[in-house]
Amino acid sequence: MKTVTCTAPVNIAVIKYWGKRDEKIILPLNDSISFTLSQDEMCAKTTVSVSPAFSDDRFWLNGKEESLENPRVQNCLKEIRRRASKRKFEGYDEDILNWHVHICSVNNFPTAAGLASSAAGYACLVFALGQVYGVEGDLSSIARQGSGSACRSIFGGLVRWYKGELEDGTDSIARSIAPADHFSDLKVIICVVNADRKKTGSTDGMRRTVQTSQLMQHRVKESVKSRIDSMMEAIQEKNWSSFCDLTIADSNEMHAVCQDTFPPCVYMTDTSHAVTSLIHQYNELKIAQGDINHKVCYTFDAGPNACLFVPGAVAEEILAILLLAFPPDSSETPDEYVRGIRVKPITLSKELMSLIDEDVKSGRLKYLIHTKVGDGPQIIRDAAFSLLDQATGLPKSAGCIS
Ligand code: DP6
Repeated sequence: MKTVTCTAPVNIAVIKYWGKRDEKIILPLNDSISFTLSQDEMCAKTTVSVSPAFSDDRFWLNGKEESLENPRVQNCLKEIRRRASKRKFEGYDEDILNWHVHICSVNNFPTAAGLASSAAGYACLVFALGQVYGVEGDLSSIARQGSGSACRSIFGGLVRWYKGELEDGTDSIARSIAPADHFSDLKVIICVVNADRKKTGSTDGMRRTVQTSQLMQHRVKESVKSRIDSMMEAIQEKNWSSFCDLTIADSNEMHAVCQDTFPPCVYMTDTSHAVTSLIHQYNELKIAQGDINHKVCYTFDAGPNACLFVPGAVAEEILAILLLAFPPDSSETPDEYVRGIRVKPITLSKELMSLIDEDVKSGRLKYLIHTKVGDGPQIIRDAAFSLLDQATGLPKSAGCIS
C-alpha cells in the first residue's frame, strides 16, 4: 500500500472568478487573483492510499462515504492517472496505475460558515493524488477541473489564475505572483453572518449570470481586464491603498452582476451591507488622518460573509470595533466569538467609538475568524495523522470525522 496525507488551504479572491466559457473542463471568462489563507485556522485534509488489495475506488468526505461517480472528482482522478501513465519516476511501480484508490477527506472548518470548502477540498485531493502517483509539473489545471477556484489553492500567498486562450484548457493555470509575506503582517478577519437565506451555489449562479446579465458583458470585456492590470501594478508596487480600493470595487462589481442576473442572485444580506458601511467609515477616518496604509478592504464570495484584509497594526482595533458594532448574543463569550489568532482587548479612541451606531443589535454575526495569509498545500509525513488505517485502508474511526 502506498499512502500520502496532505493539507490544503482556502483562498479568497480579490479579483473574482465569476462566469465560465467552458462548463465541462471549467474555463473562466476572466483572470482572477486571490490570497491563500493560513492553514492554522482553516484547511482541508486528505489521505490517499493505493493498494493491490483494494477491490474498488472509494471516497469518504467528512466522515461519510460518497459516490465516486461525481464527474468533477472523476475528471481529476482520470487526469492524474493519464499524466502518471506518461511518466516513470524513481521507485515507480507500473502496477500502481491498476490498483484501486481510497480517498478520505475532511475540512477542519464548519461548512455552515459557507466558506470556500470546495476550493481547499479539490486542491487537497489533487495535490495528494499528485504525490501518490508522482505527477510533477502543474497541478493547478487538474484542481481547476474539480472546482475553478481550487486551482488557486495549489499555491500560497498571492495567486493569479490565468484564464488562458486554448480550447483544451492547458493554459488555464494558476501561478504564484507573490509570497505570503508580500504585504507584511497582513491579517484576515472573516465575519460569519448569521444568515438563514437559501443561496444559489456559485456554479448555478455564475451560469445564470452569463446567460442573462448585460452588465456581465461590460465586466468581461472592459472593467475586469483593466482592474487585473491595475491590481498587478498595486501588488508589484506594494500600494496597499490601491489594493484595497480595487478589491472592494471588484467584489462590488461581482455582486452587481449577480443582482443584474435574471432572476437575481442575492448573496449579501443587511448585515453584510452593515459591515461594508462600517469599513468605509473606518477608511474615511484613516484617509482624513492621512493614514492610507492602514485602510481595510472587504470582499464577498457567493454568500453573506465578509472577508476583511486588515494591516496587522490595526487588527486589534478592527476586532474591537467589530465586537462593539456586532456584539455576540448573550450565550457567547468573546473567546468563542473571536476564533483563531488571539488578541488583547483594547480601548478605542473617541473617533473610533464614533463609528459605532447607538442602537446596535446583538447576534447579527455568528462569529469572527481571525487569521492571516498563508502557504500552499503541505505533505503530512507523520503516519499518526493519516485519515486511513494503514492495515485496512479504511477510515480510522475518529480520524475521518475530527
Ligand atoms: C465567488 O470555484 O466555487 O468564490 O468552478 O463552478 O466550482 P465552480 O465555482 P467556484 O466559484 C467561486 C466563485 C467565487 C469567486 C472566486 O473564488 O473567485
